[in-house]
Amino acid sequence: MGGQSRVYLGDSSPPLYSGSARRSLFLRVGAAFFAGFVICLAVVARYASNVNQSCVPFSAFAALLPTDVGTPEWHQYPPAKPTNAFPSAFPSNVGYPGSTQAGAEPGVAATAPAYPLHSNVAHLVPPTRFSQDNTKVTTKDFNIFRSWGGLSPWYSIPRGKFGVDSSPEAPDTCNITGVHLLHRHGARYPGGYSSTSGPSGFASKLNRNAENVTVTGPLSFLKDWTYKLGSEGLTPFGRSQLFDLGVSMRMRYGFLLKNFSETNTLPVFRTESQTRMLDSAHNFALGFFGYPLEGQYQQEITIEAKGFNNTLAPFRSCANSDNPNRAFRGVSRANAWIEVYLRDTVPRLQQYLDGFDLGVQDIYAMQTLCAFETVALGYSKFCELFTEKEWEGFDYSYDINYWYNVAWGSPLGRAEGIGYVQELVSRLTQTPIETHNTSTNATLHNAVTFPLGNSLYVDATHETVVLNVLTALNLSSFAAMGQLPTDHIPKRRTFRSTELAPFATNVQFQLLSCSTEPDPQIRVIVNDGVVPLANLNGCQHHPDGMCSIHAFVDAQKENIRSTDWNFVCNANWTIPDGWETTTGYPV
Ligand SMILES: *[C@@H]1O[C@H](CO)[C@@H](O)[C@H](O)[C@H]1NC(C)=O
Ligand SMILES: *[C@@H]1O[C@H](CO)[C@@H](O)[C@H](O)[C@H]1NC(C)=O
Ligand SMILES: *[C@@H]1O[C@H](CO)[C@@H](O)[C@H](O)[C@H]1NC(C)=O
Ligand SMILES: *[C@@H]1O[C@H](CO)[C@@H](O)[C@H](O)[C@H]1NC(C)=O
Ligand SMILES: *[C@@H]1O[C@H](CO)[C@@H](O)[C@H](O)[C@H]1NC(C)=O
Ligand SMILES: *[C@@H]1O[C@H](CO)[C@@H](O)[C@H](O)[C@H]1NC(C)=O
Ligand SMILES: *[C@@H]1O[C@H](CO)[C@@H](O)[C@H](O)[C@H]1NC(C)=O
Ligand SMILES: *[C@@H]1O[C@H](CO)[C@@H](O)[C@H](O)[C@H]1NC(C)=O
Repeated sequence: MGGQSRVYLGDSSPPLYSGSARRSLFLRVGAAFFAGFVICLAVVARYASNVNQSCVPFSAFAALLPTDVGTPEWHQYPPAKPTNAFPSAFPSNVGYPGSTQAGAEPGVAATAPAYPLHSNVAHLVPPTRFSQDNTKVTTKDFNIFRSWGGLSPWYSIPRGKFGVDSSPEAPDTCNITGVHLLHRHGARYPGGYSSTSGPSGFASKLNRNAENVTVTGPLSFLKDWTYKLGSEGLTPFGRSQLFDLGVSMRMRYGFLLKNFSETNTLPVFRTESQTRMLDSAHNFALGFFGYPLEGQYQQEITIEAKGFNNTLAPFRSCANSDNPNRAFRGVSRANAWIEVYLRDTVPRLQQYLDGFDLGVQDIYAMQTLCAFETVALGYSKFCELFTEKEWEGFDYSYDINYWYNVAWGSPLGRAEGIGYVQELVSRLTQTPIETHNTSTNATLHNAVTFPLGNSLYVDATHETVVLNVLTALNLSSFAAMGQLPTDHIPKRRTFRSTELAPFATNVQFQLLSCSTEPDPQIRVIVNDGVVPLANLNGCQHHPDGMCSIHAFVDAQKENIRSTDWNFVCNANWTIPDGWETTTGYPV
């Protein structure tokens, strides 16, 4: 994916900048004036017939940034009161539909000899070149869309990557009898606008300093750059990710709907009230069922807000998840790593920007802008500023953050995921949950809103919750690399957020009935990669990654018994200095 372009910055142009040697405003403006004048003369010489007023001296000041550089550029659509909106003139049903006959339900996961893989970068444009550095030869398989940690679009994990040499289609001797899908929302905008940190913080800083800033070379594009990202909501590309995921699940597992026709019932899919969650679920449903949705399924919308029990947003009711000492161990560690891998990038980019000192967090914000602009706007000039190695560093910063905040390295990870594990066990055993002592919500656990005995379940959530759940399930092959160091990227990386927690990440719990196995079987498939279950008590090594549902459930019941939500989320515990966990549980 790109990368073969010629030297752009870096090796051929050693850093010129030194923090103390700042030129005066007078010199800078003078230089800008002179440069502008020379360019102007050159233009005049070339297009002599067009000589006009364009060479007046003040045009030279264009080298300084306009006052609106970096300011938010937001568009409100739809207009609040369109003057031509006459809904009655546009009825949604005019009759005369012609005739159609529904076909058979597809089931490529059961019927095709191979499985349809997913690369999912339609609509996005990669940079045409990358910054080069002489320490690393361009790698053939470098793919910038897979180097953004949790900001990457999801893609099919290559067969065998997680340690099981099998793929998601049913083995020859098995029938698929059910699927429980847990997925993340699609690509979104960054979190709330901040003038001091993150992508918007960088934009704001640029704007605050605009009167003194000049940019050259690869940073010239900043001259007319504005901040075009919204906050929190799904982007158009994110919408397509969920629609596509819905289509692909219908193609793979449509035959499971026969079960609902036979029992005269509708599937119940769950999502949360937050805008991007609701929009994601609706787009998934449009892909899965097609328009119109009415009468095809029932969408449960659980409340995602502080204090509400919700297994798909457990952090909202886990008090300790607001406690920085207990919950955000990943942030300082990711920051330590950022200081390491971006140390040399600061002077390299500073030489093209004069007017304020760039810090590593500014550079990190520029990398973040590449990812967010690409998934929101389709393309970003920020992407080409960095080397492949710097992209690897960026990717790894997300791994560190997630590992210590919400997964095996976090004291809260397991408890936050256990509510969903209880629900999975409840569905697998068709037995209601006895005691609601975690993030589950008893009010919603009734036959209508939490049906048992269905062949298909779909739940939408956040990537942090997906990681909570993988941790709570004790799928510890992902944790085999141990603690994530903050001074280098380890060679062996079993925990990669680009593989486990990208936009639209999805986990299939696939239920199978096999002629070769006496009992019903389960497989866990993360982004099309089959996950080993052999470490779970009672599960054996299996070439296709299966375990009997019975043994799997017993192991999960053990996890449930040994996970004390109330203690983890509400007790006043402290983390001793130097203490670490790889089980996602406190001391
Ligand atoms: C721009 O530079 C001048 C001269 O050094 C300084 O007085 C002024 O405060 C600077 N403006 C900003 C926004 O930093
Ligand atoms: C359970 O969910 C219902 C419906 O969303 C909500 O009204 C209720 O407040 C929730 N209960 C708790 C304890 O969060
Ligand atoms: C909400 O969660 C708390 C803590 O687990 C639990 O005590 C309470 O019963 C739950 N409420 C409902 C309605 O499930
Ligand atoms: C539907 O699926 C459930 C769960 O797999 C199963 O218990 C039930 O027997 C199925 N019903 C039909 C009609 O196939
Ligand atoms: C799969 O289902 C088909 C059709 O219901 C049945 O004939 C076959 O025996 C099943 N195979 C297994 C391995 O369960
Ligand atoms: C969880 O995994 C660990 C190590 O991989 C294993 O020792 C333990 O028995 C597992 N626990 C359960 C309940 O399966
Ligand atoms: C929570 O309830 C379950 C039964 O649903 C039980 O197995 C578990 O031990 C309870 N957890 C605690 C910490 O009391
Ligand atoms: C929590 O425990 C610490 C240390 O034991 C103590 O200093 C602190 O006051 C406690 N906080 C609360 C809210 O009880």
